[in-house]
Amino acid sequence: MGIMTDMMTDITKTDPEVANAINEELKRAQDGVEMIASENFVSKAVLQAMGTVLTNKYSEGYPGHRYYGGNEIVDITENLAIERAKKLFGAAHANVQPHAGSQANMQAYFTILKPGDTILGLNLAHGGHLTHGSPVNFSGKMYNIVPYGIDVETGRINMDEVRELAQKHRPKLVLSGFSAYPRTLDFKKFREIAEEVDAYHMADIAHIAGLCATGVHQNPMPYCDIVTTTTHKTLRGPRGAMILCQEEDRLKDKYCPDEKKNLAQRIDFSVFPGTQGGPLDHIIAAKAVAFGEDLRPEFKTYSEQIVKNAKVLAQTLMDNGMKLVSDGTDNHLMLIDVWASSRCSGKEAELALDKAHIYTNKNMIPTPEGELPLDSRGKKVGTPFNPTGIRIGTPALTTRGLREPEMETVGKAIVKVLNNFSDEGVLRSVSQDILELCKKFPLYPGLGILR
Ligand SMILES: Cc1ncc(COP(=O)(O)O)c(C=O)c1O
Repeated sequence: MGIMTDMMTDITKTDPEVANAINEELKRAQDGVEMIASENFVSKAVLQAMGTVLTNKYSEGYPGHRYYGGNEIVDITENLAIERAKKLFGAAHANVQPHAGSQANMQAYFTILKPGDTILGLNLAHGGHLTHGSPVNFSGKMYNIVPYGIDVETGRINMDEVRELAQKHRPKLVLSGFSAYPRTLDFKKFREIAEEVDAYHMADIAHIAGLCATGVHQNPMPYCDIVTTTTHKTLRGPRGAMILCQEEDRLKDKYCPDEKKNLAQRIDFSVFPGTQGGPLDHIIAAKAVAFGEDLRPEFKTYSEQIVKNAKVLAQTLMDNGMKLVSDGTDNHLMLIDVWASSRCSGKEAELALDKAHIYTNKNMIPTPEGELPLDSRGKKVGTPFNPTGIRIGTPALTTRGLREPEMETVGKAIVKVLNNFSDEGVLRSVSQDILELCKKFPLYPGLGILR
């Protein structure tokens, strides 16, 4: 009885410390502008699905084939997530169990690569992700990484260089996708290059998945063997990931002639039992809810607005003296060269913007080789911890309802902060302006705080 009483008592009574922290986080989000390109605000429906009894269930395996009893209900939610994911991207197969984007990439690599195999992927310092071959990540430790880069002059991927590197190094995997690149990708071209050297083509669309699903960006699925994505960025779902793939292995005769399973079965096997245990059933239900939202016409309008907002924001920044990588954007994000623009390092910029309640992240950006300069604190600029740029994006603010006029306001506020990054008075006054703006766009108004 005592145990049941505790079980049914509100968190505010049982754990005020955690409850207060959650309240504080809601308030922080409400009182600031969220410009981290990889973040978004999920709907109340997605939040509701996450906070449910589905978290209690063990369901190792897949719908209809589980290692535990009592799974007939979670089969419903997982099947809904799978079918909706397939429909979103026109995919033959979807695995919705990966706990995170990094796991999804590991599971995809384990399916088609052996240790020591070569991956051709985007240089991390030029916008690639840790799992695309960082020496501190399993990908860089297990595989032979050949990086392609961004042309420092144009700020764009040079597909001729990608082809040359592919011909020279004959990778087994050509990887497209990024964490920080403001332009569109030509997945068809990547596929052609992969075919020329008998390589698989995988796209990691963690950042642009929502744009791809709605046709705002080219959909990679027809040109890829495997597509991985997180579900919490432009897809506006819960924190997690999924893997989409073709049913058959196009390169089976070359790389695994004796293999009995097809590509889809091998992906599933690589997720469970290969690298994960029990799926997060509450998260999978929330993925189903988010994918249902993503299939609605309003989501296409939302995705189009993300790009419209990004273009206005980029133009405002450039009109006010900021240097952007590639001089603009075609997607949801942009990279400001804060060192070139304001002699401010990425770390100083992030800290100053934080104080003004504008949330961003410092980011490496492609710069010519040379001796590293010192910032106002005497720290070297151009290192991963103190890079020369910041990355900003529009998905979260677009969800909150901000449109083109507000992008101009926010853009000018960013410029004011960057040009006065060590002036506490200016930072305080911008934070007041931001607070006023935020009041006009209530975030989770009906959610209230935990009391
Ligand atoms: C391109 C790309 N792939 C993978 C990931 C990893 O996702 P997670 O943080 O869920 O592991 C990210 C995260 O930002 C990403 O940008």
